[in-house]
Amino acid sequence: MSELPYKIRPAAFRDAAGIVRLIRNHPDALVPRSISDVLQNIDRFFVAEAAGAVVGVVSWAILPELGTAQHPSIEMKTLAVDAEWRARGVGAALVRRALDRIEELRPEQALVLTFVPEFFRKFGFAEVSKEKFMHKLYTGCVNCTRYDNPFTCPEIAMAKPMAGAERA
Ligand SMILES: CC(C)(COP(=O)(O)OP(=O)(O)OC[C@H]1O[C@@H](n2cnc3c(N)ncnc32)[C@H](O)[C@@H]1OP(=O)(O)O)[C@@H](O)C(=O)NCCC(=O)NCCS
Repeated sequence: MSELPYKIRPAAFRDAAGIVRLIRNHPDALVPRSISDVLQNIDRFFVAEAAGAVVGVVSWAILPELGTAQHPSIEMKTLAVDAEWRARGVGAALVRRALDRIEELRPEQALVLTFVPEFFRKFGFAEVSKEKFMHKLYTGCVNCTRYDNPFTCPEIAMAKPMAGAERA
């Protein structure tokens, strides 16, 4: 079998500029992130690298809980593939790698807010009410300048149940 023309790997500090460039190239699909935000959370990013350039990115964030972690949830975010690299399996490879990492933390669920629900359905995500995202709505959406409130935003909330839900 021939080798893939790209590799998926954990991001490093030197990738921050390439990651920010990809985020800026997708203003309609991605929440903007500053370079300092990317650098401070670089351990929560995977990149797709081809010929020394960042051609894809995905990250995740642990959503806040009140008190003990009864229903730990992890949001997958900042997923983008360079337009020239689409339809070659890069997005799927990034999502699978991020899900493997998320699974290691044994959350109850992985969540995503997205305009491409059909893409995420392929990985076991299913549409849920935005009420399920209340923790995110307070921390992320509260700073949104595009919509008055999360319930008028057209992004679709999706969840994928994970192993943490199975308690002994
Ligand atoms: C969505 C995105 C990451 C997909 O990346 P990609 O590398 O082109 O996807 P892949 O080639 O890995 O596709 C995997 C599968 O998803 C399907 N798919 C890809 N893009 C899709 C889309 N927009 N809608 C529905 N299905 C899609 C492919 O047909 C493929 O299906 P198959 O496994 O049955 O062959 C990419 O189009 C992108 O960066 N979009 C702009 C940013 C964005 O919308 N990010 C999501 C924010 S939540």
